Amino acid sequence: MSKVIFFEVQGGSDKGPDGYRGDTMPMVKALQQRGQEAEVIFFELEKRDEIFNYVKDNAVAYVSRINPGNLAHEAEYFDMLRELCATGVIGMPHPDAMICYGAKDALVKLRHTSLVPEDTYAYYTIDEFNAIFPRALANGERVLKQNRGSTGEGIWRVQLVDALEEGTYIVPLNAKIKCTEAKDNHVEYHELGDFMIFCQQYIIGANGMLVDMPFLPRIKEGEIRLFMLRDKPINVVHKKPAEDADAFSATLFSGAHYRYDSPEEWSILVQGFLGQLDEITSLLGGYDLPLIWTADFILDTDENGQDTYILGEMNCSCVGFTSELELAHRVAEEILACVHEKMLV
Ligand SMILES: Nc1ncnc2c1ncn2[C@@H]1O[C@H](COP(=O)(O)OP(=O)(O)OP(=O)(O)O)[C@@H](O)[C@H]1O
Ligand SMILES: [Mg+2]
Repeated sequence: MSKVIFFEVQGGSDKGPDGYRGDTMPMVKALQQRGQEAEVIFFELEKRDEIFNYVKDNAVAYVSRINPGNLAHEAEYFDMLRELCATGVIGMPHPDAMICYGAKDALVKLRHTSLVPEDTYAYYTIDEFNAIFPRALANGERVLKQNRGSTGEGIWRVQLVDALEEGTYIVPLNAKIKCTEAKDNHVEYHELGDFMIFCQQYIIGANGMLVDMPFLPRIKEGEIRLFMLRDKPINVVHKKPAEDADAFSATLFSGAHYRYDSPEEWSILVQGFLGQLDEITSLLGGYDLPLIWTADFILDTDENGQDTYILGEMNCSCVGFTSELELAHRVAEEILACVHEKMLV
């Protein structure tokens, strides 16, 4: 009952020469240096029961380090984690926390907070998309976000090419629109109706949905990623989109420029966000905060002309820190603190 188990999965582009993610063994070693037994298990569906029993009998906690994109049997993996948590193993994080924080519709669950604009929507059916999106677009530029995929794939900025006629509250399906994809900032022109048919692929199938939020023009000043260990801000990455006129993307392969800052340099954002963490956890299902997670913000201006920070997305399934491995020691301390707190309860 005393080990900390790190779950990984074999294969995928996130692995180093030793077959593990680059940040896994540093965490294992940092725990071992502190007298805590730790090991890595590769999840395989064929060994599911064997793994479950071993972890149930030997582990105090697990740390999930699997990128869902690398996992063929995500549902079965999450079921196993859910059962482990139910038997008392401490989940870092609980699988439903991974789902709640990681899914794009987390934004919609937070839209009554100051972190998310009220006119942010999630479409789970084509009918909802057809009913609402042409009205939302009539109010201004939008960003449509698919739930699956990453690095800006299927994230589209949508603008009207011509202004609507006075008194029009629904964009006609034959209106010309300009669509820019965050993956590489490339531009396509379509009629609204055709583009909406193209977007149906994002809604159908497992975990399909589209989130629709206002386009925030101050993205030009950069996206601000807060890297968190549970409730502790650790560092900030400022991601400034490329300079070209249409560039709005801060994603990895989009040409954006990354700068590393300390949380102290962003104290208004950080203090404001920490003050809302209790509300966020409760709106997202009441799970414990993930061990390692990120929240991304974009600047906006409120009705009094003051800066506000709008949440663009959160990630918690498998946030890496391979480029800053010295963080492994802080992560190990955090794991031990979490185990200690849970044991006291
Ligand atoms: N509401 C918005 N207004 C302006 N730009 C936005 C908005 N939402 C997202 N973006 C831009 O689009 C990019 C991609 O969006 P998002 O981060 O939601 O997608 P992703 O594919 O999950 O990316 P990641 O690789 O960060 O996981 C952001 O980095 C940001 O530059
Ligand atoms: Mg992002």
